[in-house]
Amino acid sequence: MLLRTDPLAPDREVIRVAVETLKRGGIVAAPTETVYGLFTHAQSDEGCAKVFRAKGRPPDNPLIVHVDSVEMAESVGHIPDELVDVLRRVWPGPITVVVKSRGIVSRCVTAGLDTVAVRAPAHPVPLAIIKELEAPIAGPSANKAGRPSPTTAAHVVEDLDGEVDVIIDGGPAFFGVESTIIDVTKKPPVLLRPGPFTVEELEKYFGSIEVPPAARGLAEADVALAPGMKYRHYAPNTPLIIIHFDLKEAVKALKMRGMRVAVLCAMGQCADADAVIQMGADLYEVAKNLYKSLRDLDRLGVDVGLVPAMEEVGLGLAVMNRLRKASGHRETYGIQDLLRYVA
Ligand code: TXA
Ligand code: MG
Repeated sequence: MLLRTDPLAPDREVIRVAVETLKRGGIVAAPTETVYGLFTHAQSDEGCAKVFRAKGRPPDNPLIVHVDSVEMAESVGHIPDELVDVLRRVWPGPITVVVKSRGIVSRCVTAGLDTVAVRAPAHPVPLAIIKELEAPIAGPSANKAGRPSPTTAAHVVEDLDGEVDVIIDGGPAFFGVESTIIDVTKKPPVLLRPGPFTVEELEKYFGSIEVPPAARGLAEADVALAPGMKYRHYAPNTPLIIIHFDLKEAVKALKMRGMRVAVLCAMGQCADADAVIQMGADLYEVAKNLYKSLRDLDRLGVDVGLVPAMEEVGLGLAVMNRLRKASGHRETYGIQDLLRYVA
């Protein structure tokens, strides 16, 4: 069932249907400020099993528990005293913390770990659902495993039509990349996944943060830090290559070899090619259009896609992390380097 609502003033009937569905052990796809999520009641083994089945997610990759308050988070995990005030200031927002679990959510949700990932989403739709349900909801991004995260309801339909009880269309997600995840059981806290809440901002609230190579999306890091990090992430069927040098030179070199080339333009870096996808002029636009651009790349029928490297500051860290994964770590610094991938 596809239901529509104004994202900023959730339709009460839509929320009621979603809550009834969750209470019955059903699953609901809904927007958040980051990407669309696929939600179950966090205490329902049945609902959780449905989420894993619909998504095709390996059972050892845990879900994020979504709450409406720090109080609800405290019922789910052990929040260290010094963090309570910090979370009151940063939530609701695109930041997930990994803490020791109290074991009240389904074991399916935490994949049997003794830790749990928790966040309060800054989006009126999931917040209204959690409030009316009076319980946390758990869910991953609402894409099939191995596909880009959905940033519109149409993307959810594309991946999961017929496998979800309710899909709520609340327009495009606001940020377009998934929440920042930090493990606060470690000292200093470790960044597990960069997101819209930047490292620069995190450090204002949490003090210094460790940013391991894994968080930048570098290859060595496929060693699991976040359980999810060990899984292969979305890679388009069309090879995608990150370009750290002049895009126009890169396009020229590939055209000379008879290849059909698409360019994903970003931050004013662009080049003429067989196809051009505009991602945006600033990092917010680029993040918002990133997953849609990756979905579009495969529809173009070109031999290769090129994307300019971006500086890894602010939201740039999250964007480069996703691009590295989507490109299968094809990252090039000159023509010879580039030609290795297309030989
Ligand atoms: O913005 C978001 O976070 C979106 C929206 C729907 O909230 N959700 C999302 O979920 O991106 P998902 O499942 O695609 O990514 C959750 C990540 C996974 O990489 C998982 O391994 C990690 O969180 N995770 C969950 N529980 C964890 C834990 N206890 N320790 C470490 N990592 C954990
Ligand atoms: Mg995901």
